[in-house]
Amino acid sequence: MVHRIFEEPNNVISGLKMKVTSGADILILVTFLVVQLTLAVENSSVVSVTSENLGGIVESNELVLLSFYTNWCRFSQILAPIFEEAAARIHQKFPDNGSVVLGKIDCDTEEELSDKFDILKYPTLKIVRNGLISNQEYRGQRSVEAFVQFVEKELSDPIKEFHSIDELKNAEVGDGMVIGYFVSKAHVEYDCYRKVASVMRNDCRFMAGFGELTKNLRPPEKNVLIFRGDPSDPNHKDYYSEYSGNMTSLRDLSVWIHKKCLPLVREINFDNAEELSEEGLPFVLLFYNKHDMGPVQEFKTAIQRQLADENRVNFLTADGELFKHPLYHMGKSVGDLPVVAIDSFVHMYLFPRFEDIHQPGVLKKFIDDLFSGVLHFNFHLALEAYEKSESTIDPAEFPPVAHESKFKELRPSKHRYTLINRSRDEL
Ligand SMILES: *[C@@H]1O[C@H](CO)[C@@H](O)[C@H](O)[C@H]1NC(C)=O
Ligand SMILES: *[C@@H]1O[C@H](CO)[C@@H](O)[C@H](O)[C@H]1NC(C)=O
Ligand SMILES: *[C@@H]1O[C@H](CO)[C@@H](O)[C@H](O)[C@H]1NC(C)=O
Ligand SMILES: *[C@@H]1O[C@H](CO)[C@@H](O)[C@H](O)[C@H]1NC(C)=O
Repeated sequence: MVHRIFEEPNNVISGLKMKVTSGADILILVTFLVVQLTLAVENSSVVSVTSENLGGIVESNELVLLSFYTNWCRFSQILAPIFEEAAARIHQKFPDNGSVVLGKIDCDTEEELSDKFDILKYPTLKIVRNGLISNQEYRGQRSVEAFVQFVEKELSDPIKEFHSIDELKNAEVGDGMVIGYFVSKAHVEYDCYRKVASVMRNDCRFMAGFGELTKNLRPPEKNVLIFRGDPSDPNHKDYYSEYSGNMTSLRDLSVWIHKKCLPLVREINFDNAEELSEEGLPFVLLFYNKHDMGPVQEFKTAIQRQLADENRVNFLTADGELFKHPLYHMGKSVGDLPVVAIDSFVHMYLFPRFEDIHQPGVLKKFIDDLFSGVLHFNFHLALEAYEKSESTIDPAEFPPVAHESKFKELRPSKHRYTLINRSRDEL
């Protein structure tokens, strides 16, 4: 074996040939190489995560990025060296114990973890912050630079401190803002607020003030959290409200902030489409014309009034210009906006008349019909009737017209992931 290596003229090791004169020297050299190799492997900056060490790792680190991979997945193979280099760079930038770890989980040997994290594609990059396992994923570019930037952003302070009341008054509220008035920064309740804020950093704005500055804004020796909604949004039920729950419960505080900051109706675009589609809920979409935003407000009001508790679907607004492809597919164009439709990821169903969203119960029935299978049934009925040309039904009279889903194309792409096949009910 050793001989063969030395016989190869182009082998790197041949450069050392002259120094190696005896069998013992060769043995030393080989041992040296093996040790080097082992060190290099053990020095890997990416931690191998198993069901045994997962708990300890997520609990003792502020941020953990977990790559769920398999050895046979081509995209996982491409990612591995990039992830390794990113981990090394990140480790240099953030050497502190307890700040950030990049870990990898072999889904072939760690089936339990793969199930627990609901892995449907490889590689899936899950984000765990402050021990809180969420369903958030890293969906950015898979480059060393992008991973480093992501970690830098995630480790930055999610809370902006205000140093004067004017600064607070002039702060941009955006879609909503949570403000904390704290006795001191070293308070356990502030620590809890900071943890929740870091998880929700992309969904809300967060501010905090401390000590004397906030003395008149809170009861003595107590901390207060308030939510301020977007003052320009007429639908904001509670423009101003105070948190009355447990200030040290990460769960309770997360639920409250989630409820306050995440609107019932969200905007879909190409950046968030993959994530929204992976939530797995059918989309109820309003396609609007961006030069006429009235229908967007109307849609939001209607959902707020009639469907605030509907949690089987995602309510979304879509710029009809940006999403003209699915519109076109339903036989509609920008001139027909506003258009309401359901996309179940199998079919798209057109809601017959936009104006009917104001009729209490009509949109709800449309959604109920999706889940009871009526929409799907009607679709096949209409199709059959159409195919039997003796039919006297005017095609325009068909019950809600169905088309093949177009939004399923926005789901995780097979050009980026190895997808695991899991069949769904046809809605
Ligand atoms: C381990 O990796 C770090 C960072 O990549 C490097 O600075 C260090 O020299 C390596 N240690 C060994 C023993 O190779
Ligand atoms: C980091 O923390 C872990 C667990 O607390 C400990 O085992 C390890 O020795 C620490 N490493 C450094 C460099 O402090
Ligand atoms: C608040 O939540 C924390 C953490 O969940 C818990 O330990 C504590 O008992 C709770 N306090 C009250 C008053 O419920
Ligand atoms: C995925 O599952 C469906 C339904 O079980 C099956 O018809 C289809 O052939 C499967 N596709 C692949 C690629 O395995």
